[in-house]
Amino acid sequence: MPTIPPNIVVLTGAGISKESGLDTFRDADGIWSQVRLEDVATPEGFRRDPAMVHQFYNARRRRLAQGDIEPNPAHLALARLEREWRGEVLIVTQNIDDLHERAGSDNLIHMHGELLKVRCRQCRKPLVWVGDLDTGHACPDCGRTGSLRPHVVWFGEMPLAMDRINAALRHCGLFVSVGTSGNVYPAAGFVAAVRQAGRAHTIELNLEPSEGASLFHEARYGKASDLVPAFVEEMLSRSGNLTPGPI
Ligand code: APR
Repeated sequence: MPTIPPNIVVLTGAGISKESGLDTFRDADGIWSQVRLEDVATPEGFRRDPAMVHQFYNARRRRLAQGDIEPNPAHLALARLEREWRGEVLIVTQNIDDLHERAGSDNLIHMHGELLKVRCRQCRKPLVWVGDLDTGHACPDCGRTGSLRPHVVWFGEMPLAMDRINAALRHCGLFVSVGTSGNVYPAAGFVAAVRQAGRAHTIELNLEPSEGASLFHEARYGKASDLVPAFVEEMLSRSGNLTPGPI
């Protein structure tokens, strides 16, 4: 009876993009040490000062568009795993950058939205948007001015595609967390949900122990661009022995 390879769910956070040149949030030099999240990542902040919020995301869009920002070996390794693993590989990213896509990952959910999309608060349709956005722009679909906002999930808002994510967590055989501090729910609760389902092996790949480190069966600490390619190589070289378990 051939071993059915388990489905894999990979949760990624800002740490996987750090070596590509993008800031994390809670490291000492992180984004939240530079600007108050209450001002730029909440609906209240946007209502209070939309221009400041637009300026914050415009700066991050410009940074992402710079030539030195490229997918790193960790992004590329996850795209390889998706191509070569015989079971399903789903990446659930908290990141709003497009580095997983640019690395070649297709089966991908941006649970916190996408930096290169905006949406109209009236007609609610996400639109690709790569340049600066300000309150003077009109929605290309409904024509309303000032109704466009970043297609990013702010604190206090519901993350995207949670039904699909929860189903994948219940049915996976392997859950891997890469580059996240485990500070923000619901993503921080995924490992507990997987453990409760009782089917999957769980691994944390991070620079340092996350808030939820004790909930993982296994942990490896170091840089994502070292850990993730080695992990993917090990997974793909497990001839036949594809059942989840200590790698
Ligand atoms: N390799 C691996 N891990 C790294 C690296 C690296 N090179 N550099 C940093 N890290 C780790 C840090 O140790 C930390 O545990 O990545 C994690 C980044 O944590 P955060 O900055 O809190 O980012 P994240 O977990 O993605 O934040 C979750 O919070 O502010 C919200 O919406 C925002 O999506 C974000 C969410």
